[in-house]
Amino acid sequence: IRRTTVKAALESAGACPEIRVMGWVRTRRDAKGFSFLEINDGSCLSNLQVLVEEGIAGADLVKDLGTGAAVDVAGALVASPGKGQRFEVKATALTLLGGADTEAYPLQKKRHSDEFLRTIAHLRPRTNKYGAMLRLRAALGQAVHAFFAERGFYWVHTPIITGSDCEGAGEMFRVTALSAAEAAAEAVLPPAERGSRDFFGKDAYLTVSGQLTAEPLACALGRVYAFGPTFRAEHSDTSRHAAEFWMVEPEMAFADLEDNMELGEGLLKHMVRVAMEDCAEDFGLFAKYVDPKLPETLATLLDAPFVRLPYAEAVKILLAAKKTFEYPVADGRDLQSEHERYLTEEHFKRPVVVYDYPKDIKAFYMRQNDDGRTVAAMDVLVPGIGEIIGGSAREERLDRLSARIREQGLPLEAYGWYLDTRRFGTVPHVGFGLGFERVLMLVTGIGNIRDVMAFPRTWRHLEF
Ligand code: 4AD
Ligand code: MG
Repeated sequence: IRRTTVKAALESAGACPEIRVMGWVRTRRDAKGFSFLEINDGSCLSNLQVLVEEGIAGADLVKDLGTGAAVDVAGALVASPGKGQRFEVKATALTLLGGADTEAYPLQKKRHSDEFLRTIAHLRPRTNKYGAMLRLRAALGQAVHAFFAERGFYWVHTPIITGSDCEGAGEMFRVTALSAAEAAAEAVLPPAERGSRDFFGKDAYLTVSGQLTAEPLACALGRVYAFGPTFRAEHSDTSRHAAEFWMVEPEMAFADLEDNMELGEGLLKHMVRVAMEDCAEDFGLFAKYVDPKLPETLATLLDAPFVRLPYAEAVKILLAAKKTFEYPVADGRDLQSEHERYLTEEHFKRPVVVYDYPKDIKAFYMRQNDDGRTVAAMDVLVPGIGEIIGGSAREERLDRLSARIREQGLPLEAYGWYLDTRRFGTVPHVGFGLGFERVLMLVTGIGNIRDVMAFPRTWRHLEF
């Protein structure tokens, strides 16, 4: 008997006398002489309808099957007389793989709040919404790889444990060495009494960005990208920050800021297109239940080139805005999220790439412009999300880079290896970091970063 998935069964070219499918029961309807089960196996959003008639092997089990039970069904795939599905299964045998006590099962048929579902992150993937989100997440991960492969980029694996703070933002988690026995012994102590050991005698941290090690790889392979988890000790309660999140970080040699903007815009548009076109069924759920304006919003994002706006122009627009901001706008100060929102949601009503920021508010590695005041930095801002990409041209001139490191009070000795790329055959190069979860928020309309990751880590969430 051919074992199949719900997705393959529903997409089958025709009927099939013998199939076998396994999944979790979503609902059961009983009638005289037969029952209908709706089962889902995670392969797609849709459920497969199973007709269980009295007298078939295992028919006596059906009356105890509640939402959440796992079953193994053998039968015939037949054209469905019902509306909404092409095929259903007429069962010949039903086996119970694992029962679920309906009373105790936390996922009832009704809609649950996001807050409640976060407390059962191990079960929420079985709901339509989180199943769809996780399938989209997987598809967008593949889309990232396909996008770069097509453009001659190599996927590189930058270290997760690092000795340096890339952003100079000081928001790192420290790594300490412990044996399993020590960890267990410490776990019962109050935090203040726990000892901490370092990384074989050195300070080590979880990476905040793969950039600094991606740069030397780009300066050897030409075009590379890192795509993996990054960590920030964010103690803030915003809906857009997590302590662990995934970043896509391309790094490109022999390129300038304009190439960087084009790459970022192209990548974002590619991911949006994949979500809307290749994942139409899952995307449809979000467009229907989460944000009905989603297709329209995303269409405007795809329609036209992103606005490109020098920081100085952005400040002028904000100063002229008939609006009082919580944080005052001033030339030389960083843009706050309320300012970013104004630009994208009220003024331009589309994505905006702000570039050429004042050097004093940006990281040491960004390339200085000839005006002496600004750096070739770029942030891509999108409506509803704010900053989704942050990047820059990298300072490739040894003297300027060393001076910037000193000016920012960073230990020059620690950057010897990084400076070597400028000492030997330095080339103009650029790169950026795209927040993967923020793209998922964009294409699903989900408002909280905790709901676009399977097991979110924020300062509040470390269960599971
Ligand atoms: O702007 P950021 O801090 O840039 C960098 O780390 C660069 N070194 C990247 C590079 O050039 N290779 O972060 C890049 C993006 C942000 O635009 C945002 O989308 C996302 O990463 N991001 C976060 N996403 C979720 N939670 C957080 N705490 C995030 N911090 C940044
Ligand atoms: Mg940034």
